[in-house]
Amino acid sequence: MIESILFKDVELITASERKQGDVYVLNGKIVAIQPSLSVDAEYVINEKGLALIPGVIDPHVHFREPGASHKETLYTGSKAAVRGGVTSFFEMPNTKPATIDAVALAEKKKIASQTSLANYNFFIGATTSNLDHLNSVENVPGIKVFVGSSTGNMLVDDQAILEEMFRNGTRLIAVHSEDEATIQANKQQYLRSGDVHDHPKIRNVAAAIKSTRRLVQLATKYQRRLHICHLTTEEEAVFLDQTQSKYVTTEVSPQHLLLWGPECYTQLGTLAQINPPIREKRHADALWSHLIKGTIQCMGSDHAPHTLDEKMKPFGDAPSGMPGVETSLPLLLTLAYQKRCSYQNVVKWLCEAPAAVYGIKNKGQLKEGYDADLTLIDLNKKHTLSNSRIISKCGWTAFDGWSCRGEVIATFVNGQPVYREGDFFETVKGKEIKIK
Ligand code: DOR
Ligand code: ZN
Ligand code: ZN
Repeated sequence: MIESILFKDVELITASERKQGDVYVLNGKIVAIQPSLSVDAEYVINEKGLALIPGVIDPHVHFREPGASHKETLYTGSKAAVRGGVTSFFEMPNTKPATIDAVALAEKKKIASQTSLANYNFFIGATTSNLDHLNSVENVPGIKVFVGSSTGNMLVDDQAILEEMFRNGTRLIAVHSEDEATIQANKQQYLRSGDVHDHPKIRNVAAAIKSTRRLVQLATKYQRRLHICHLTTEEEAVFLDQTQSKYVTTEVSPQHLLLWGPECYTQLGTLAQINPPIREKRHADALWSHLIKGTIQCMGSDHAPHTLDEKMKPFGDAPSGMPGVETSLPLLLTLAYQKRCSYQNVVKWLCEAPAAVYGIKNKGQLKEGYDADLTLIDLNKKHTLSNSRIISKCGWTAFDGWSCRGEVIATFVNGQPVYREGDFFETVKGKEIKIK
């Protein structure tokens, strides 16, 4: 265990400013941030020209353990996370068994405590009959509801059951928002085409906006915290902007900002097949402007690894989902380098906002007294994303060949170095994230 770390003359990037300074970490906490500190430390970083940000919090990953460890495990997923500057993650319940009761939740927390390099917590998943569990399990980021069906069999779209869920309890409800009836009707028409270009026609804009309107109505009626995962349409963004509900927050995934159809389907085939789908460019542009505006608060990778063999099946058989936990930060740093947003924006969307949305204690900011989850970056370093360098067990990225500016140099979790320039330090494990 390393007790103390001194970061000398680093550029500190927060959601509001960029400034040079020193940071002193003791026993897992940030204890001092000053223009210049003269203290001894066990581990000193004093290379010139590096930047320090709060560790990225990825509130939306699928790590597949238990049940599909050939795609990813909590160990391999967490390793990919810290490689990408992510120090904390919330994992989704569509594993096998699904995380729908205290026993399944305890099992995941146990595996993570033994194997995860990053800090962790797990959503409790809704079924049509586990309302008691949703409210009685302890310390979870929220309840995950698949209001439209996706990977796994966790659909809850019955109005009466949703009303019960929104009426009972206070915990945040995070939703995969697509209207199931609309999807099923469209499937009759398109699925047999065998053409992945039809994916966004099956899961169309109407399915997304219809479901999101319904969920916002429920949140308003029952004054219940609602978080809409992976927003994908201009229509939803405009609707949320007009509604301005204090109960509702939302997130976007990098792939919905950086890829669009029909090009992505022509180039990537079923690798681009995810739910909700990647749509035309007007949606990507609208999501970007609403992120800048603040209608969309945070980013989540929706890291959903499947093997290349599985993804290479024809449309109709190929599973939906793509990896992303290790590419979110480099992709966003590249956008900041290109001046499409500021570096402060990146810290706001990937670090500070997820902590605020989910009520995470002592994380997401560079602040004295906060946990020393820190990511050290070279903002100018050029590198190319490539399948051969992907840490995730799935071994591929939809951004293969993309050149980036801004590279993670080292990642610290609870004051311990876990990744540095290609090397992983695996003796100390991450901790369960406490929700306020
Ligand atoms: O594309 C997706 N993949 N969307 C989801 O909602 C689930 C995810 C998965 O688990 O593969
Ligand atoms: Zn989803
Ligand atoms: Zn997801």
